[in-house]
Amino acid sequence: MIGGKGWIAVPGIRENADRTLEEQLLGLEFAIAEAAGKTVLDLGCAEGVIGREFARAGATRVLGVESLPGHLEVARLACAAETQMEFAQAYLQDWIPAHPDPEVFDLVLALGIIHKVYDPGEALRFACRSCRDLLLFRAPAHAWEGWVQAKHRAPGAPARLRVHVPTAMEEEGFALERKIAGARGEAVEYWRRR
Ligand SMILES: C[S@@+](CC[C@H](N)C(=O)[O-])C[C@H]1O[C@@H](n2cnc3c(N)ncnc32)[C@H](O)[C@@H]1O
Repeated sequence: MIGGKGWIAVPGIRENADRTLEEQLLGLEFAIAEAAGKTVLDLGCAEGVIGREFARAGATRVLGVESLPGHLEVARLACAAETQMEFAQAYLQDWIPAHPDPEVFDLVLALGIIHKVYDPGEALRFACRSCRDLLLFRAPAHAWEGWVQAKHRAPGAPARLRVHVPTAMEEEGFALERKIAGARGEAVEYWRRR
């Protein structure tokens, strides 16, 4: 058993965590149902077990990007049987400028992540640029009428940055297809490229 506290509990590997996989999968079922034959990018993938559901449903490639090495240690064990899964350890604020012309994936998961970077709008637009078809977005529960504010202020910045998600998504060419209530007040939005 790996020590420390995780985000998603993974039975037999690290059970001490904030959330269960059942909670974190709420609202994702329609996307998982269309995963066969698709490629998937999971931004802020934590222990990789959300992406693993897409892999098990037939996704041909799943790339998870995650900042915490401890989460990725769990991910690599939990997803060892899914050989189409790959993980990269990076902070998105470094990953985004390093990929000005990013690989494009059929499905992009931006679940509980954009508020973790100094510029949530930049993270959301990167997710859009990386997405060929369906982008799944989950805002933190404190998001208000489409606004998502960064958890932290960038060093030297006068205020925390924020983004109005519906406006940014429409500007990037996506339409809201469905919105499903998830765990703990965190709804999942399905944005489809027009
Ligand atoms: C709130 S959890 C959401 C995890 C998962 N996407 C889900 O929906 O359950 C955010 C995850 O992103 C990671 N993370 C936080 N800030 C990050 C950053 N700047 N770049 C990459 N990953 C980050 C955290 O370590 C954590 O695993």
